[in-house]
Amino acid sequence: MPLVSPKEMFAKAYAGGYAVGAFNVNNMEIIQGIMSAGEQERSPLILQVSAGARKYAGETYIIKLMEAAMLGTDLPVVLHLDHGQNFEICQKVIEAGFTSVMIDGSHLPFEENIALTKQVVQYAHDKGVWVEAELGRLAGVEDEVSSEHSIYTDPDQAVEFVERTGCDSLAIAIGTSHGAYKFKGEAKLDFDRLDVIGKRMPGYPLVLHGSSSVPQEFVDMANAYGGHVGGAKGVPEELLRRAATMAVCKINIDTDIRLAMTAVIRKYFAEHPADFDPRQYLSPARDAVRDMVAHKIRTVLGCSGKA
Ligand code: G3H
Ligand code: 13P
Ligand code: ZN
Repeated sequence: MPLVSPKEMFAKAYAGGYAVGAFNVNNMEIIQGIMSAGEQERSPLILQVSAGARKYAGETYIIKLMEAAMLGTDLPVVLHLDHGQNFEICQKVIEAGFTSVMIDGSHLPFEENIALTKQVVQYAHDKGVWVEAELGRLAGVEDEVSSEHSIYTDPDQAVEFVERTGCDSLAIAIGTSHGAYKFKGEAKLDFDRLDVIGKRMPGYPLVLHGSSSVPQEFVDMANAYGGHVGGAKGVPEELLRRAATMAVCKINIDTDIRLAMTAVIRKYFAEHPADFDPRQYLSPARDAVRDMVAHKIRTVLGCSGKA
């Protein structure tokens, strides 16, 4: 099956009150783990590639691994650029076959974000490629951009931004953040703001970045086997589930993949100190990605059986 655009996927998700998971991929095992979960759950999938992933694996490897993945499936799968930093990167990946790009001008002043997003939209739409943009700022680190405090998305600005840029989906800031340390106190999302933004743009798909839940079982496992990830805290699953029933059609997850693999590999090393064949510890790590992603699809995103 060829890679698809998010257009139909999001229209169905919006109407059906669920969201599609956008999982970050960096290597073969991660891609295989996510694809297995998608097959098991018969779920649509978005596989997304950051600048860091392109640097780590190389764009050709990612594309070829995705081609291999697509040979073995009939699931609808989107290949998406995560946090595209400039027009040139978006152009490059569109030429390479990505079906969706994010242009992230969220760190720019409003008018500059609009100008940059518009430029990408014009180019991408000409090639039938979907464009996600971002308005508002998440706390935390993403590639080279970091921000200590979040700036929640203003509903009036969101409407103006979408009208003036023509972007197809919009990532908004309502309290999520990137990484494993999202909340110091109680975990909260601004659902009133999400509700207002959603109602101001009926039918329009919104995106939540920074949506890992940081499962306690992986934090505990990592720490039990020599890790040091104390105090890690993610977005509770029930909050994500609620967002998925609203206008949020895409939920981004990366940290949970990293944690699952690392926790399982730490455990493996501790329990099998004499082993040194990478296949021995990468197999359970790949299985952990599969099981964690399948759980998200089933109980958080609500997209089991929606392929
Ligand atoms: O938004 C950030 C994603 O988790 C990607 O992270 O840039 O380290 O690959 P990365
Ligand atoms: P997490 O760090 O919460 O997994 O967020 C990932 C993300 O938003 C990728 O764009
Ligand atoms: Zn992100």
